Amino acid sequence: MSTIVSPSMLSADFLNLGKDVNMVNESQADWIHLDIMDGVFVPNISYGLPVVSQIKKVATKPLDVHLMIVRPERYIEAFREAGADILTVHLEASTHLHRTIQQIKFCGMKAGVALNPHTPVNQLEDIIQDIDVVLIMSVNPGFGGQSFIPQALDKVKKLKQLICTTGSNSLIEVDGGVNLETGKQLVSAGANALVAGSFVFKSDNPAATIQELKKLNA
Ligand code: DX5
Ligand code: ZN
Repeated sequence: MSTIVSPSMLSADFLNLGKDVNMVNESQADWIHLDIMDGVFVPNISYGLPVVSQIKKVATKPLDVHLMIVRPERYIEAFREAGADILTVHLEASTHLHRTIQQIKFCGMKAGVALNPHTPVNQLEDIIQDIDVVLIMSVNPGFGGQSFIPQALDKVKKLKQLICTTGSNSLIEVDGGVNLETGKQLVSAGANALVAGSFVFKSDNPAATIQELKKLNA
């Protein structure tokens, strides 16, 4: 399977969002990553439901929505209505994670669970079989353009092992500080999907950069 690439619109040009969504549509990207921040779970506020619905109108690729909000279970149906295809909640923000995952699936979405840099992958031991995507954070969530935390590589390897031993079908996605160098290391460690914000949108040719990431393989 080739590497799944999910460009993060957090680094897009918000005054020309339609243009950037079209660039992603026409590129080799697989998903469109949307970062939702509430200013409580993370020290930043991004955008919310109305922006997601507008993007849905023009997007031709699945919306990969990353919720960095407390008590994400409150908004599952709302994000489904706005057009999310994959809905990822943080383990650290969900008291009843099992129920939340079931609700996401019941609403017809793929269920993702994100882990902050300090959260060990073994916390997923009893739930890994129910998850469609695990999102390993390789920066502290809240901002684009931060440096990659190298311990994420070891976490990807451990997670890959957990997935293999339990027979789970979960994909491993990594978010934060991804570029060609860290991307290559992550794919070799077992990552299936890469999120990239600033590396894509700050490059001279974002579509070509997406293509380069897409070419990375183990
Ligand atoms: C960070 C977000 C990321 C962010 C990644 O909290 O979850 O999706 O957009 O940005 P880069 O790729 O610039 O590190
Ligand atoms: Zn993200």
